[in-house]
Amino acid sequence: MNHSSQANTQQGGQEEAFELAVNLLRSSRRVAVLTGAGVSAESGVPTFRDAGGLWEGHRVEDVACPEAFERNPAFVWKFYNQRRAGLKTVLPNAGHHALVDLEQRLGTGNFTLITQNVDGLHRAAGSVRILELHGNLGRTRCTGCSRVEDRSGETLTDLPACPHCQSPLRPDIVWFGEVLPAKAWEEAEEAVRNCRCLLVVGTSAVVYPAAGLIYLARAVNAAVIEINRENTPASSLARVSLFGPSGQILPQLVTRLGAGDDA
Ligand code: OAD
Repeated sequence: MNHSSQANTQQGGQEEAFELAVNLLRSSRRVAVLTGAGVSAESGVPTFRDAGGLWEGHRVEDVACPEAFERNPAFVWKFYNQRRAGLKTVLPNAGHHALVDLEQRLGTGNFTLITQNVDGLHRAAGSVRILELHGNLGRTRCTGCSRVEDRSGETLTDLPACPHCQSPLRPDIVWFGEVLPAKAWEEAEEAVRNCRCLLVVGTSAVVYPAAGLIYLARAVNAAVIEINRENTPASSLARVSLFGPSGQILPQLVTRLGAGDDA
């Protein structure tokens, strides 16, 4: 990694880092964005790994997996019902809104928002071109008839059954050890292959295959811009890292991008 081509705010170069990020975005007709739980943190949605990756003392990987659901579906539903209940009161934050502005600025055909989040907040904010890699908390999927339904806003029991075939329902979430939805994944790979710049926001960049998109961006010579509160494995792949809360950094970045329009 050529160190002189990197800039980051932790090394005191915040102004320089913003300038570089703005220049990279200005020279990129096509932009892809990969978001993770950090982008929703300022909306009050808990991230997965900031609390040590534990839920009631259990590793998230041991709750969000098919084996846990087979062993004890009520335990898994309790975790997801807590997260579903939390969603009722949350709203998109300034970071989500800045990504809507960025899409409008570039045009939907030149912009793809790839998210690992299952909270639906990008759509609530108004983003149009969204690929949800890990499913959506609002939806259920029947383990019998496979029907997928939007049950957002409803309170579900800890053992909900399909209203059509009475088989157990599961959250329409991609669990550890499961395959990502093929269409969303193919489109995500294509978006990254065709972008000039990949913005990586609020993800610990440790869960694959999503994190592999950052390597794919590098492989096709797209510039990676990272926004996070701290260093992650993506930092060493990024041309520039902007350290801080995405609810503040993203709006600043998009405002600066607009500011030079007349120049
Ligand atoms: P993590 O919880 O692993 O990481 C959240 C990241 O956001 C960390 O790197 C934090 O430093 C950063 N962060 C926290 N607050 C922030 C803020 N206000 N602004 C910017 N960054 C902030 O979440 P993900 O990377 O999304 O999968 O986790 C990936 C996947 O692992 C999730 O989709 C989920 C999880 O287990 C499934 O459920 C299948």
